[in-house]
Amino acid sequence: MDRSKFNDMSIIEIVNYLTDNFHIPLKNLLDKRWGNIVGFSNKHNDDYPKVKHLKDLYGQLENEILKHMKKEDDIMFPMIIDYENNKLDLSNEEIINKIDIVDGHKMESEHEIFQYYLNTIIELLGNCEIVESEDVPECNEIREEFIKINEDLQEHIYLEDIFIYKKWKEIEKKADGK
Ligand SMILES: [Fe+2]
Ligand SMILES: [Fe+2]
Repeated sequence: MDRSKFNDMSIIEIVNYLTDNFHIPLKNLLDKRWGNIVGFSNKHNDDYPKVKHLKDLYGQLENEILKHMKKEDDIMFPMIIDYENNKLDLSNEEIINKIDIVDGHKMESEHEIFQYYLNTIIELLGNCEIVESEDVPECNEIREEFIKINEDLQEHIYLEDIFIYKKWKEIEKKADGK
């Protein structure tokens, strides 16, 4: 993807871009994927021992990503939009308390954890020839999807780390000074 276009976008435009292109599709995909992963995983527990980790890893990844995105959707993104519109009241204690819930540094390290999970999942699915031959196409299909999720996540994380979290840290700093 050509990243230079983001330099010409406002922070609010990037927030909206992230929501439409990454948050909404990722939530839909995770929702759909769960049944397939559980089915695939249960079916191949015996003939492909590594697969039993797949379900656990995926479960953890899904859970952590949803919690992470909820903090962005419910607190960080709306507050950044208010801040950009000069509507964020940093003298309001309730707002300060909410800002404290979302630690920018912690959010960044969560991004690294997601990439670790995804890389491990892709690695686990890397040897599809080990499963019964009739199931190789399904294994490959799931693997391709995770590769796509990983590619999208890299873009998603890039935009947040470079533009959004930078702005969030600026807000955290101002809130701290109050
Ligand atoms: Fe996000
Ligand atoms: Fe994020």
